[in-house]
Amino acid sequence: MTPEPEDEINEKNPRPLDEDDIALLKTYGLGPYSTSIKKAEKEIKELAKKVNDLCGIKESDTGLAAPSQWDLVSDKQMMQEEQPLQVVARCTKIINPNTEDAKYVINVKQIAKFVVGLGDKVSPTDIEEGMRVGVDRNKYQIQIPLPPKIDPSVTMMTVEEKPDVTYNDVGGCKEQIEKMREVVELPMLHPEKFVKLGIDPPKGVLCYGPPGTGKTLLARAVANRTDACFIRVIGSELVQKYVGEGARMVRELFQMARSKKACIVFFDEVDAIGGARFDDGVGGDNEVQRTMLEIVNQLDGFDARGNIKVLMATNRPDTLDPALLRPGRLDRKVEFGLPDLEGRTQIFKIHTRTMNCERDIRFELLARLCPNSTGADIRSVCTEAGMYAIRARRKTVTEKDFLDAVNKVIKGYQKFSATPKYMVYN
Ligand SMILES: Nc1ncnc2c1ncn2[C@@H]1O[C@H](COP(=O)(O)OP(=O)(O)O)[C@@H](O)[C@H]1O
Ligand SMILES: [Mg+2]
Repeated sequence: MTPEPEDEINEKNPRPLDEDDIALLKTYGLGPYSTSIKKAEKEIKELAKKVNDLCGIKESDTGLAAPSQWDLVSDKQMMQEEQPLQVVARCTKIINPNTEDAKYVINVKQIAKFVVGLGDKVSPTDIEEGMRVGVDRNKYQIQIPLPPKIDPSVTMMTVEEKPDVTYNDVGGCKEQIEKMREVVELPMLHPEKFVKLGIDPPKGVLCYGPPGTGKTLLARAVANRTDACFIRVIGSELVQKYVGEGARMVRELFQMARSKKACIVFFDEVDAIGGARFDDGVGGDNEVQRTMLEIVNQLDGFDARGNIKVLMATNRPDTLDPALLRPGRLDRKVEFGLPDLEGRTQIFKIHTRTMNCERDIRFELLARLCPNSTGADIRSVCTEAGMYAIRARRKTVTEKDFLDAVNKVIKGYQKFSATPKYMVYN
């Protein structure tokens, strides 16, 4: 073996290190698995990033520092220094508006009026006259602009889910549907037509007619059809315990309606509040009358071309106050009469649509057998026919069931029918 020559070469002019040697040198002092560990760590980092991206929230997004860095004590102190806003006031007037030294007159209910400045976090453009504002306890500076106050029970009246009734579910009543759509839909879809002609579209519709003829049903169909916000109020909901509450609710209702792009307000059973004014000597009904007057007032108040439409329904139109009905308030009055033969046939078909019936039931014959009956009567006939089938343990309803049901409902329950009474009233 003659290793010398090589050694000599190495010592005198060392061979330059090639890449393999460098890589080898770099591993000096590392454990046997270090490269694979490093690789795994890199992969973990990448995966974590991927997971974060997929989750869409990073630690920094939540604004929370790591729990180890929390400083609860100083946070508590800061909270104590920052005054809670506890006073709601109304900004009644702005002195020197749009200048550097604008001052605000606020009225704190049951305390006093103050002239105050703005807090640090409010800009002068946020505050308008007549606005509700939150002020702090110490200096009564305006700290936050507040939205107008609307009673939660009024907000609850908005119909959010569309009812599943369409115009197809209303039998007969062609004329009524036509009239209603003309008032409700036309001004909302083609306001320019009215502007061109120079007339104001009708503001509202009064639906009247015997109970069970589909007044509420049609209103629900309207609500389904329109994209406008739909507010439904039952007359009796507006009769409140305390004086002035009902009128305030009406005011807030219209205030809410005005804040929407388009809105339909439906007063059902309006006779609860719309009764003619009279003096009963005790003053017990005054409150109800005030509520009604507020409605009258609000009807006058809004611009007819504005997008609020008012529908009302009642079965005692004779008791309504004439002030409510005068043209310019509720211009349209739509009578819901008893359905005619064709209408009744259609109503039969509508209500048996979902029923498991025999094939060729002569609905026209059935309709002929129930003269002077309302939509609600016919619906009851259909239900009763189903009951007969159930009693006989059958899975389909036969024509005979329907005939029996007609006998039972139309003939038997005639005493309870409100229609003749309605005819007497009017
Ligand atoms: N024209 C009609 N077409 C179909 N169903 C009707 C019709 N009229 C009344 N009905 C039925 O009678 C029920 C009660 O009608 P409703 O509209 O509440 O009466 P009201 O006129 O007293 O408000 C409805 O739910 C519907 O099933
Ligand atoms: Mg009704």
